[in-house]
Order: sequence, then structure tokens, then C-alpha cells
Amino acid sequence: MMINRFTLLAATAMALLPATTIAQAKELVLYCTVGEEWCRAQSEAFTRDTGINVLMTRKSSGETYAQIKAEEGQPRGDVWWGGTGDPHLQAAQEGLTEEYRSPLLAELQPWAVSQAETSGYRTVGIYAGALGFGYNSTMVTENAPACWKDLLDARYKDDIQVANPNSSGTSYTMLATLVQLMGEDEAFAYLKELHANINQYTKSGSAPIRAAATGESAIGIVFMHDAVTQTVEGAPIVTVAPCEGTGYEVGSMSLIKGGPNPEEAKIWYDWALSAKAQEVGATAKSFQVPSNMKAATPPQAPKLSEIKLIDYDFAKYGSSEVRNALLARWDAEIGALPK
Ligand code: F6P
Repeated sequence: MMINRFTLLAATAMALLPATTIAQAKELVLYCTVGEEWCRAQSEAFTRDTGINVLMTRKSSGETYAQIKAEEGQPRGDVWWGGTGDPHLQAAQEGLTEEYRSPLLAELQPWAVSQAETSGYRTVGIYAGALGFGYNSTMVTENAPACWKDLLDARYKDDIQVANPNSSGTSYTMLATLVQLMGEDEAFAYLKELHANINQYTKSGSAPIRAAATGESAIGIVFMHDAVTQTVEGAPIVTVAPCEGTGYEVGSMSLIKGGPNPEEAKIWYDWALSAKAQEVGATAKSFQVPSNMKAATPPQAPKLSEIKLIDYDFAKYGSSEVRNALLARWDAEIGALPK
């Protein structure tokens, strides 16, 4: 190589730079699917514990699945952390996520391990929470709704919000829950009737309870822990576990296949399964049940043992065939209905 004035100048400039700016800073691209506040708290806790920088974006479960699918072959994300289990299972089935057996599996609740087993270890449970609804007690003052069927009452016309099941895992959990409770045709008949009372299908699953908290809407169909968050923040929200029984989520985590930072991704994965990392949620007013058996369950978390839970078939409702078919039917029969 010919050494000229410019190469000498460049070499001198490099020598003057501190070593840290020359070495590539370690980083991780995180697709986060819990509440914004928890996403931020979790990313910051990880950086504090490991020194690895987190580039985080927050989206809903169905949206994140669609993004990972669209990026197949040129993935930009490393880890998909949080969000309902069904689209994680679909991503696993479609080979969008990596198989990994964390040494921390031994510390997890059986429902979290079962999510891993169902997917051939391409996803794992990180928390659980039951579906329900919440109402604003200054707006609903008598005959409060206690059951799914109560939400069909004509006095709630345009007063209920729920998310769109294409973008939202919460709403897909509701769709799959109703199908398991009533049978598919009955569930769609119920959703058609409910449509008269829905004022908006939101993108994010927890938005309906934020609308109920501010009085923009009377009732939000959401995960019960998201309703509890509003009550803890001081809103007049009452949380309901539907009397007929209800479904639940196994909030999950997956490694994105071929992501740009595979080593850092595994460091996040093992860390996120630890008891210490799972206790961050409660500090961000997120009251799911953690999957690590050694992690403290926040006292505000709805008690799963006291809720009439269905035996949710995750393998079936997280399969590509069933999820795609239910969403297509929802688009045709509910999403297309006039308002
Ligand atoms: O707000 C937290 C939470 O309800 C999680 O428990 C759940 O996994 C996720 O949000 C679902 O969000 P979405 O319905 O927007 O996909």
C-alpha cells in the first residue's frame, strides 16, 4: 500500500479516538409487545445489568408477527419479547423463529414450559393473564355486566371498545375464547350482535380500557391485568372475570431467525427468564403472573386460580391454519359490517 499524506492523517486521527468509539458498541434490536412503560423499564434494566444497548420498538402482537413475516430472510429484529402466545406459535410453525433451550427453563411454571414444548422450543412463556373486561363505574352505575352475554344489552349501544384481532393478540384471544366457549358459528353470531355496541375496533389490545378510564367509552374488553393497571392509576375501573368462563394468554418470547445480534439475543433471552428480570413488570404497573416460579407475583395480579378459565387449546389456536382462517372469517363477517 502506498502511504501518502491522507493515510497518515487518517491513522493519526484513529489513534486519537478513544478505544470505545472504535470498538462496536454491543446492541440488541428488541420487538416489544407489552405496554410502552414496561417495554422501556425492561430495556433499561437489561442495559444496566449487561451493558448492552437496546433498540426497542413497541407494537401489538399481530402487527409484530406480520412484521417478522414481512422481514423473513432479511430480519432486522433479534428478539420478540411479550405479546400473546398464539402468534408466537404461528411464527414458530412458519420457521420465523429459532429453536433455543434456555438453562432457565427449569425455573418456569408448567404453562410456560408447555408453550416451549408445543413450539419445538421456538418460543417460551414469560407471563400469563386472563381475559375479561373492565367498566367505568361512574358510567355504568346499575346492573353491572358480569358475563359475556351481558355485553349484548342494548343499553351499551356504542359504549364498548375492543381491539381488532388482526393487529391485537388480546382481541384474537377473545375470538379464540368465544369459539372454544360457544362453538364457531355461535361465536360469530355473538360477535355480530356485539358489533352494535362497539364504538371502535382499536389497533392495540389495551387501548379500550384506557378509553374507559377517561370516560370516552364505558366498557373495554381487555386482559384483566390491563384493567387493574387503570384502577391502580386512580381511574374508576372495575375489573370483571366473565361468569361463563374465559380464556387466557401465555405471554411469550421468541428469538427471531437470523437476527443481526444472535449472541446478545441469547443473553436477553436467559436474562428475561430470570426471577429478577421478571419482577421489573410490577415496577411499571404491569400485573401479569410471571413465569419464573421464583419471581414474586404482584399482589395486584388477578388470581388465575379464582377465575373460571377454559382449557385454552394453544396448539390449535396458535396454528397458522386456524389463526388465519378465524381472522379471515372475522374480516368477512365482522370487520366488514357497516357502522
Ligand atoms: O398491555 C399488556 C398486554 O395486555 C400483554 O399482557 C399482552 O400480551 C399484550 O398487551 C397484548 O397486546 P395486543 O393486544 O396489543 O397485541
